Amino acid sequence: MKLFANEPVLELRRAPVRDSLTAALADLDVRLPIRVPLLGGATDGFESTDPGEPSRVVATAGRASAEDAAAAVAMAAEGFPEWAGRTAEERAEALVRAAAALRERRLELAALMVRECAKPWAEADADACEAIDFLEYYARAAVELDAGEALLQVPGERNTMRHVPRGVAAVIAPWNFPLAIATGMTAAALAVGNAVVLKPAEQSPACALMLVQALHGAGVPEKALSLLPGFGEAGAALVRDPRVHTVAFTGSAAVGLEIIRAAADTPEGQDHVKRVVAEMGGKNCVIVDSDADLDEVVPAVVHSAFGFAGQKCSAAARVLAHEAIHDGLAERLAGAVRVLDVGQAERFATEVPPVIDSEAQERVRGYAEEADASGTIAARAGAPDGGWFCPPTLATGLGADARVLREEVFGPLLTLEPVGSVEAACDIVDSLPVALTGGLFSRNPATVAAVAARTPVGNLYVNRGITGAMVARQPFGGNRRSGIGAKAGGPGYLLQFTEPRVVTENTMRHGLVVE
Ligand SMILES: NC(=O)c1ccc[n+]([C@@H]2O[C@H](COP(=O)([O-])OP(=O)(O)OC[C@H]3O[C@@H](n4cnc5c(N)ncnc54)[C@H](O)[C@@H]3O)[C@@H](O)[C@H]2O)c1
Repeated sequence: MKLFANEPVLELRRAPVRDSLTAALADLDVRLPIRVPLLGGATDGFESTDPGEPSRVVATAGRASAEDAAAAVAMAAEGFPEWAGRTAEERAEALVRAAAALRERRLELAALMVRECAKPWAEADADACEAIDFLEYYARAAVELDAGEALLQVPGERNTMRHVPRGVAAVIAPWNFPLAIATGMTAAALAVGNAVVLKPAEQSPACALMLVQALHGAGVPEKALSLLPGFGEAGAALVRDPRVHTVAFTGSAAVGLEIIRAAADTPEGQDHVKRVVAEMGGKNCVIVDSDADLDEVVPAVVHSAFGFAGQKCSAAARVLAHEAIHDGLAERLAGAVRVLDVGQAERFATEVPPVIDSEAQERVRGYAEEADASGTIAARAGAPDGGWFCPPTLATGLGADARVLREEVFGPLLTLEPVGSVEAACDIVDSLPVALTGGLFSRNPATVAAVAARTPVGNLYVNRGITGAMVARQPFGGNRRSGIGAKAGGPGYLLQFTEPRVVTENTMRHGLVVE
């Protein structure tokens, strides 16, 4: 296998590239709705719809019950020994073939993300690239892991350590990276020999189907990987099932914490303790020091806060600006927010698409109303009618106890506050129960070092936007209530899906057995 390199994104500035995407979308549209079968059967349990035009049905899927979840786990338990028995190289080759299949279909995949999740083109393409990266990266990492680590050896003794698969992994995925995150968790579990039941978000079953088709087509047996479309009840049933060994979850803190609690139960007859890998939400702050270059700050913050309508777990939510530059920054951010282009994801000019569904629209509206009531709306962009649009909003002058300053909005709403110093900003960051991503704009290396040493966040971005982590370059994941476990797309991630076994052999033989 060649050395790992990130999949290059498409050059959307080139007209022929844009034309090829538009053609892929037209091809997709005539094939909608996509049927997503439940365990090879029913496809009529629920629908996913286009957030920009909710009357357009993108997929119809079978809706898994608790019994279906149990059937999927039983199948995975049956398929596990055969998949686990393959060599690490054989499994890696299958993942690399699946990556090639996604690469082949990447225009179609991007089009599907535009339709099913209203992901604008650049982000939809990046999502497909990240999915490919996860497959390629974990394939290589699993082969390396299988080679084993060097242990201290002394004369007369041989020590070896192997990492074996744990068993059945339940992968419970969110809709906001409908392909990449489902792929990352699934690929990691499969790479080291686990069998997987994938429960995608109810908003994006069709994207998950594309992944499962690619992996099956690449040689992952049907029993080692099944798709369980459905809602939270199906996920909860997987988590409770005593035959599940590992739960890999990415989503909201409320659900993640519930999963951690439920998985801790070890009923009679369950001969293992479940492991939970949970990546959850954040409240991501960007600190802007008095010496920061505002020409750099404004586009980076606006893109981080409003790209994909603020629906990235890493999105900027709260700007803490040194009081010396606060007013100037407020004016410039407000100007930038007012001119944001809000529109359908399929328009190449769109900067802010609609949010995922009516529930999300209501939630964002609620926070915006609170910001309006207890602070000042410094800027708001216009938004079209029709889809689940939310006007991008900048709020200032909020009281320290405002909910909108502490809770994850997960939509196009950014707050700005003055702080007396970078230390005071760090105190605010430190007071939050979540610690996913953070940003710092400063020209002073001592300030950069001090903030890096102090911040609790999992990923700190300095003098740049705070979204867009790349596999192998920026291993990604939060601390505190934002996540538990090793960072995705980085060293150590695969270990979570394995069990270590050490063998120590006394090699001082007292005669050999000769047969
Ligand atoms: N830290 C990260 O890497 C990361 C990445 C992406 C998204 N997120 C977070 O995800 C959230 C948005 O995603 P979402 O709306 O899909 O999250 P969500 O928690 O509503 O749903 C995530 C998944 O959990 C399932 N689920 C719901 N209730 C369940 C239950 N009781 N038991 C088991 N499974 C259940 C859902 O059906 C879905 O598949 C945001 O909070 C965002 O910050 C975090």
